[in-house]
Amino acid sequence: MNIERFDNEDVLASALAVRLIEAISLKPRIVLGLPTGRTPVALYREVRTRSRRGHVDWSQVRTFNLDEFVGLGAGDAGSYRTYMQGELFDHVRIEPINIGMLDGRAANLAAECARYELAIEAAGGIDIQVLGIGANGHIGFNEPADTLDAETHVAVLQAETRAANAGLFDGDLTRVPTHALSMGMATILHAHEIVLMATGAEKSSAVAGMIDGPITTRLPASFLQVHPRVTVLLDRGAAARLA
Ligand code: F6R
Repeated sequence: MNIERFDNEDVLASALAVRLIEAISLKPRIVLGLPTGRTPVALYREVRTRSRRGHVDWSQVRTFNLDEFVGLGAGDAGSYRTYMQGELFDHVRIEPINIGMLDGRAANLAAECARYELAIEAAGGIDIQVLGIGANGHIGFNEPADTLDAETHVAVLQAETRAANAGLFDGDLTRVPTHALSMGMATILHAHEIVLMATGAEKSSAVAGMIDGPITTRLPASFLQVHPRVTVLLDRGAAARLA
């Protein structure tokens, strides 16, 4: 793993935004895997600003988000689709048809997961997968467990993950869905290149385990150790427990 440390989350976000925009200019039909959550808010702000200033051509860029809450989709408050529209998609000239998102309101969730796997494959796979990490070591919604799912699947959210997402629902934990659709471990690990960003001291244990600990289903991010092209971007807090 290639580890890079930054003084704070703003410089980290700028550095990654510059890299993603450069990657788009090098490969206009790039396929990006994207996360939601608190961590990438600064990244999307930087990407929006730089796209406006720099005439970045988003017309052929294709994206696939990692996950979506079961029961929620486009237009729903709290959905990751709504988050992505507000943070990124409404501000760049991406073609709606090129936006890949799981539909948490699909009538047949298993079929929706299968559709997503095929759509990623049909796009030629993910060139750059951007990830955050949960304080419990999850990536996507692959939560610590005895076994992990390889492909896109319905995930049961752990209590701490639901609590971490309460902000999307006005802090009301009862409104946070109990299940989500998520890319699986193999879906993520098939990406050509992976960039994981982590900020804040609350991520420091998970980050240390991911980098220096054993590969274990109890810390799903530790599986990134087997991928040949992983870059981990850390602020001081997230890097605090590294040797
Ligand atoms: C979000 C996702 C999650 C988050 C993780 C960290 O699409 O897949 O794995 O990246 O929960 O979330 P934040 O950034 O809110 O701490």
